[in-house]
Amino acid sequence: MLKISRLTVENAVGRCVTDAKTPRFGFALESDQENVRLESAVLEVGTWRCETKEQLAIVYAGPALAPFTVYPVRVTAKASNGETAVAETSFETGRMDTPWTGKWISDAAYTFTEKKVSPKPMTFRRQLKVGKKIATARLYATAMGIYELTINGKKVGAQYFAPGFTSYKTHLQYQTYDVTGMLTGNDTLQAVVAGGWAVGSFVFTRVNRVTADRQALLAELRLTYEDGTTEVIGTDETWEVTEEGPFVMADWYDGETYDATATVTAWRKAAEEKLRVSPKLEAEYGVPVTAHEALRPMTVTPMADGTTVYDFGQNFAGVVRLNIKAAKAGQQIVVRHAEILNRDGTLNTAFLRTAKATATYTCADGAQTYSPRLSYMGFRYISVAGIAPAEVEVEAIAVYSDVAHTGGFSCSNELLNRLQSNITWSSRSNFVDIPTDCPQRDERMGWTGDIHVFSPTGFFNFDLSRFLEKWLLDVKAEQLKSGGIPNTVPVQGYGFPATMPEMAIDWWGDACVIVPWVCYQNTGDISILKTMYPTMRKYVDACRFWAGIGVGKNRYIWHTPATLHFGDWVAPDVSQMAQWQQRSKWTATASLCNTSRAVARVAALLGNTADEKKYNDLADKVADAYATVLMKDGKLENEFQTGYVLPIYLDMLPAADKQKAVDNLVALVEKGDYCIGTGFPGTPYILFALADNGRADVAYKMLMNTKCPSWLYEVRVGATTIWEHWNGLDEDGQPAVGKNGTDNMVSYNHYASGAVGDFLYRRVAGIEATSPAYRTFTVKPLIGGELTRAEAHVGTPYGEAAVSWKKDSAAFTVEVRVPVSTECTLVLPDGTSEVLGSGTYSRSCKL
Ligand code: BGC
Repeated sequence: MLKISRLTVENAVGRCVTDAKTPRFGFALESDQENVRLESAVLEVGTWRCETKEQLAIVYAGPALAPFTVYPVRVTAKASNGETAVAETSFETGRMDTPWTGKWISDAAYTFTEKKVSPKPMTFRRQLKVGKKIATARLYATAMGIYELTINGKKVGAQYFAPGFTSYKTHLQYQTYDVTGMLTGNDTLQAVVAGGWAVGSFVFTRVNRVTADRQALLAELRLTYEDGTTEVIGTDETWEVTEEGPFVMADWYDGETYDATATVTAWRKAAEEKLRVSPKLEAEYGVPVTAHEALRPMTVTPMADGTTVYDFGQNFAGVVRLNIKAAKAGQQIVVRHAEILNRDGTLNTAFLRTAKATATYTCADGAQTYSPRLSYMGFRYISVAGIAPAEVEVEAIAVYSDVAHTGGFSCSNELLNRLQSNITWSSRSNFVDIPTDCPQRDERMGWTGDIHVFSPTGFFNFDLSRFLEKWLLDVKAEQLKSGGIPNTVPVQGYGFPATMPEMAIDWWGDACVIVPWVCYQNTGDISILKTMYPTMRKYVDACRFWAGIGVGKNRYIWHTPATLHFGDWVAPDVSQMAQWQQRSKWTATASLCNTSRAVARVAALLGNTADEKKYNDLADKVADAYATVLMKDGKLENEFQTGYVLPIYLDMLPAADKQKAVDNLVALVEKGDYCIGTGFPGTPYILFALADNGRADVAYKMLMNTKCPSWLYEVRVGATTIWEHWNGLDEDGQPAVGKNGTDNMVSYNHYASGAVGDFLYRRVAGIEATSPAYRTFTVKPLIGGELTRAEAHVGTPYGEAAVSWKKDSAAFTVEVRVPVSTECTLVLPDGTSEVLGSGTYSRSCKL
């Protein structure tokens, strides 16, 4: 039987409210028969009907959509075997271009000039009485800051940190809530607005008021009565405001202070607020941050000073939830958070730097529950003061963007399985509205280099289509005048590179080229490439400009001063930041080859043959310069792993040199006892550079190594997430403090080097897309590392693709699942191959 297993609107499954004028639709099919493809489909959206042979990114081309309207969507699919299937969904349009009746409001009496802290949370309210019966009610809301809405004390929606983090000068999301069932006719609407990213302290310099001087709220309630009439109630001077109330303090880094005994003594009249920025207000197009896993403590340890230390057994990003059995009004509970413990069992908070990461709660009388709403922490351990363990049930809630967990990998080696789990947890911890570097210390910024190297692995495990598309619009918005991309997006107060505002930074800025490419490979939706193409092109031109200083072949070697680059960031074979940066001539030149090649590929897809040629020529020249100026006959004068990995993986060397470079890399790796020596730019590719060039044996030795530095060293000494530094903890479980010239830059939840996940899927399990969205893919497991089985599943836009193989000394067996409308080339270890249409297959061969 044919079934439509997934139907998306704007890449969302389920409720979607959108302002897109031409929304995109997609669907996946399932069948219990083999070799099934979509023959044709009919898509109906409202009155528009279109026939298509596509399943992905079908763009609406009907009459103009009206705002505030629910549109039914129906797909009728006919498969190649004659079967048909039907599925229905609907979406709702947002405000589109409807002007807001509500005005931006704030507390005119609140001036906030303190530096390095966040403003007091501001609470707005409005009493509402309606005489008629309500048929439907929608609440539209956004803020400067982050808001929590309640109606009659009940939270509206499940989202944290709305309206989300965007480049506020350009984009600001608003949320749409269906509040029909929450209104009684006599209601109190309330909104707490904390400083968040727009007003609160952010970035390690703790700048505040970056976008607005104080918080502001914009909301509108649209009521449709049963008699057919409508009414719109917007924010205006009839609303009241105060900084009193239970939310005393909220800050990304310092945490939250909540006083359940606090009351408001005086409400003031809210006043209209003039904003400094005028962003486009758009119906939420990202992925809301919501609560996910609930973790229970594994150990509860009373400490000599009367506090209690709880260990959740897992490092993650989120908040605690205290279910307090009985308390006295005024009793104060203080919860501190940390990723690691000191030797004496107390929390080690040294690496949180200025982040206080504390939740302080003043109890009311009796039983009650508290969980922070306006901040989050990165932690595995907490210490609790002010309440005995018997009096409180302690849990922790993982909080992150609600991206679907669509992939999975496992194998016969438990350490690798833990590595996969660590990669997944570091993803969850750093997909918090934007892709961040880490969730605990005073950063949590949108570092471009981190997601650049991690995005392929991220996509294997999660559906990042909406999440990354939202962020990429900010990348585009934040591009500097002459092409450079800021190192963190949204910039939000982070200055560097301030001295040279037009500078482009290799491998970090490259995110504007590579991340859209990775999105396209995973979604098959070319629109992201169309949107980003001018940005990519301008960026590569800027890089080319900076590289162009010099004569002869040196015009293709990017050698601007090392201090302006990050180079081989966190490479463990050298100990100083300056030494990572000294390698930037190699990383930057390889980056220019990589990005110009990618732009050429995009140009080809967009039918721009002149650009295709131009950027391919540039890539060729840069590759040649690397091979001849930075290397001689495949050898580097000062050898380092990344210096070999990049030209090998990116195919920058003539065949003879390439083989020599592989041999040299192997010798270097062997000399280093199969330990990792790469920084951010080389780590994702080193195993491919070896395995794809005849040295799978060496790649597996590196992967399975448990000596420091290696992926499995971290696992062996107890990591539950991916670390920023390979030597984050020594064999005794103690941190390596400030040994790298970067002071306390020690994070235990940094996904970048988890980019090895790409290798687990593509080589160990052996599943690899050969055309966008896995329309065609290969399954070609790479046997090694003494593994006796491996399996992976991937949530492709066509449905789930999966592989599961096992072996003993004599035979190899593999099962593959091929989604409807896709084709898999299965290659067995004995070299035999066959092309499989959709279905589930089992094959084996002798070894
Ligand atoms: C961040 C990184 C980032 C780097 C740039 C660090 O402070 O945590 O992950 O990419 O700076 O050099």
